[in-house]
Amino acid sequence: MLAFGGHNLLLGACLAIGGLVAAQSATTYVNPSVPTGTPVPGVYTGALRPQVHFSPPAGFMNDPNGMFVDAAGVWHLYYQYNPTGVAAGNQHWGHATSTDLYHWVNQPIALFPPEEGVYVFSGSAVVDADNTSGFFPNQTNGVVAVFTLARYYDDGSAGPQTQAIAYSLDGGYSFEYYDKNPVIDSTSSQFRDPKVFWHKPSKKWVAVIAFAQEFVVGVYTSPDLKAWTHASNFSHHGLLGAQYECPNLVQVPVRDSVGGSVIDEEAYVMTISVQPGAPLGGSATQYFPGRFNGTHFETFDAATRLTDFGKDNYAAQFFSGLEGKDAVSIGWASNWQYAQTVPTGPAEGWRSAMTLARRSYLTNATRIGWVLVDELVDVTPVLDIVLQQETWDGNGSLAVDYSAVESNAIYIDVNVTGLDASLVSGSSLFSLSFSSPVSGETVRSGFYFGGDQPFFVDRGLVRGFDNVFFTDKFSTADVWNATAGTWRFQGVVDRSIYEVFVDGGVHAGTFLFYPTQPLTLLSLAAADLPKGTKVSVAVWGLESAWARYEDQNGTVAGNVTGSAKRDAYEADFKLPEV
Ligand SMILES: *[C@@H]1O[C@H](CO)[C@@H](O)[C@H](O)[C@H]1NC(C)=O
Ligand SMILES: *[C@@H]1O[C@H](CO)[C@@H](O)[C@H](O)[C@H]1NC(C)=O
Ligand SMILES: *[C@@H]1O[C@H](CO)[C@@H](O)[C@H](O)[C@H]1NC(C)=O
Ligand SMILES: *[C@@H]1O[C@H](CO)[C@@H](O)[C@H](O)[C@H]1NC(C)=O
Ligand SMILES: *[C@@H]1O[C@H](CO)[C@@H](O)[C@H](O)[C@H]1NC(C)=O
Ligand SMILES: *[C@@H]1O[C@H](CO)[C@@H](O)[C@H](O)[C@H]1NC(C)=O
Ligand SMILES: *[C@@H]1O[C@H](CO)[C@@H](O)[C@H](O)[C@H]1NC(C)=O
Ligand SMILES: *[C@@H]1O[C@H](CO)[C@@H](O)[C@H](O)[C@H]1NC(C)=O
Ligand SMILES: *[C@@H]1O[C@H](CO)[C@@H](O)[C@H](O)[C@H]1NC(C)=O
Ligand SMILES: *[C@@H]1O[C@H](CO)[C@@H](O)[C@H](O)[C@H]1NC(C)=O
Repeated sequence: MLAFGGHNLLLGACLAIGGLVAAQSATTYVNPSVPTGTPVPGVYTGALRPQVHFSPPAGFMNDPNGMFVDAAGVWHLYYQYNPTGVAAGNQHWGHATSTDLYHWVNQPIALFPPEEGVYVFSGSAVVDADNTSGFFPNQTNGVVAVFTLARYYDDGSAGPQTQAIAYSLDGGYSFEYYDKNPVIDSTSSQFRDPKVFWHKPSKKWVAVIAFAQEFVVGVYTSPDLKAWTHASNFSHHGLLGAQYECPNLVQVPVRDSVGGSVIDEEAYVMTISVQPGAPLGGSATQYFPGRFNGTHFETFDAATRLTDFGKDNYAAQFFSGLEGKDAVSIGWASNWQYAQTVPTGPAEGWRSAMTLARRSYLTNATRIGWVLVDELVDVTPVLDIVLQQETWDGNGSLAVDYSAVESNAIYIDVNVTGLDASLVSGSSLFSLSFSSPVSGETVRSGFYFGGDQPFFVDRGLVRGFDNVFFTDKFSTADVWNATAGTWRFQGVVDRSIYEVFVDGGVHAGTFLFYPTQPLTLLSLAAADLPKGTKVSVAVWGLESAWARYEDQNGTVAGNVTGSAKRDAYEADFKLPEV
């Protein structure tokens, strides 16, 4: 959008412009080219279009927003959405729902700007089952969204950013603006991305909000989501980059080891996304384990940790409504350094996918101490057939031609057991690569078990996108548990995204790649592993989570009454009787 195009709106994920603080009207502004009441139709057949990741039907997507799980177990994902272009601008909240975090149904756009020139930026949503807000006298499924409104003036300059709320009487499908916005006023043009949760002990809502260029996360509390009180500031922690964005504060379980039992210890994690200026360039998300007493967050230690060792996972948000369970998050699988120039825009009319959903808890990992483990959520909903399954004693290798897998998406699961730390050497290697026999393009990755060597990913041998910031080699130091002598790898390759979960999720990484030809050949090898080491490998073809909803023209209509694929949605999403 033009008003958005100037240098003023430089790409913070959760960007800003500020509405002058005039009370927002309860009406909305609908750009004539943006559809209301019906989802944007999408074509998910493009060669670069992920099949088990969420991506918007068309247009440009950035931060995940408003994520909550409702009482029926439906996961709601909203997202920063420009439905009219393939670059940031004209921000709305797109919406999709899922019952398994892999199959998504596109819903109508959920939040529109309150007036022309004002944009709906990032924020969060909660179910107000107890009617603390007073919006929901007759229901327990009322939803309140809390988000930033931002205005650009005609001359392109930015006014203050303020925090507003909107409520939904239909479980999160449509929203009405509160008539007394803003609920948190400000004079800053860099104050955004409220993330709200219910703090049971103090019986209050808590919001964390970024004072982006002051490197402060403000903590606010409220009894009713309308009246907010500033409670504390969490300032100048970790990496600053050039902005703090999209803070999250979430309660997480603590487990006694990776995959072990939950122990009775209360812990919270504060995440802060920084952009630009992340260590690998552009955007990244850091986190701090600690404790929270209702008003103040204190870190357990002075360390800064990153959620991902790639550079394509930003602004991740945790679903609300999971207190006491493993936390579940989804991130934006891109980086502002190149998000608006990747080839999917001109080639296929969409830009940006989300990461797969990750299930997280804190544990004290070998040598490194506190770590937020990211596990791949149960992938069985999209597993199709086992392409190959083998167990090797030490060395072994395998080539899997997956050109017949229609989705062009695969899942790799590897367990290494019986590892003897005293016998592995610097050349003990597990390697995986994916290539195109047509073009020779390859993504390669692997892990050296000995001598404190890393897990690595190299996307440099893929040629469909040339950009100076699209750096190609990544690695992470992984110190596996020598007492247990086990190591696990899980990876999903999905047309243009490779996502890895290393050592049971102690390290996770998201890597975009843009081949000129589909990658269809997987090579796996274990070399120089000591005798007695068992390597158990399974490679699965994945079923497309979109193809089953395509009509005869290849269009995914989403939640449209009377559409050709209504029956598939009804079967998969168990529609409540109307
Ligand atoms: C919900 O809040 C409204 C306004 O405060 C109040 O009138 C109503 O009684 C409440 N309903 C319930 C069930 O608490
Ligand atoms: C709630 O239910 C009462 C009783 O049926 C009704 O009078 C009232 O209008 C309802 N309120 C709303 C906001 O729907
Ligand atoms: C919290 O930080 C904001 C942003 O820097 C600042 O304006 C405010 O005065 C701080 N509040 C307190 C109580 O320190
Ligand atoms: C390492 O593995 C052993 C044996 O399974 C387990 O008791 C221990 O807790 C693990 N250590 C860590 C740091 O996870
Ligand atoms: C929370 O921690 C802060 C800072 O240590 C302290 O001032 C405050 O009293 C604590 N609040 C509660 C409820 O313990
Ligand atoms: C983690 O475990 C190590 C080794 O058992 C111990 O020295 C360290 O204090 C633990 N760290 C935390 C944060 O519990
Ligand atoms: C694996 O191969 C290496 C040589 O590359 C050899 O030294 C080693 O014994 C082999 N391991 C097994 C278990 O066969
Ligand atoms: C790896 O181990 C996990 C957990 O024990 C198991 O669920 C999975 O099936 C194993 N995969 C392979 C390929 O052995
Ligand atoms: C598919 O496209 C044709 C030609 O444009 C159209 O007549 C038909 O209604 C479309 N089918 C669906 C299910 O939209
Ligand atoms: C479609 O939207 C309606 C609300 O408009 C909702 O009740 C229903 O569950 C949705 N169906 C699906 C499959 O998402």
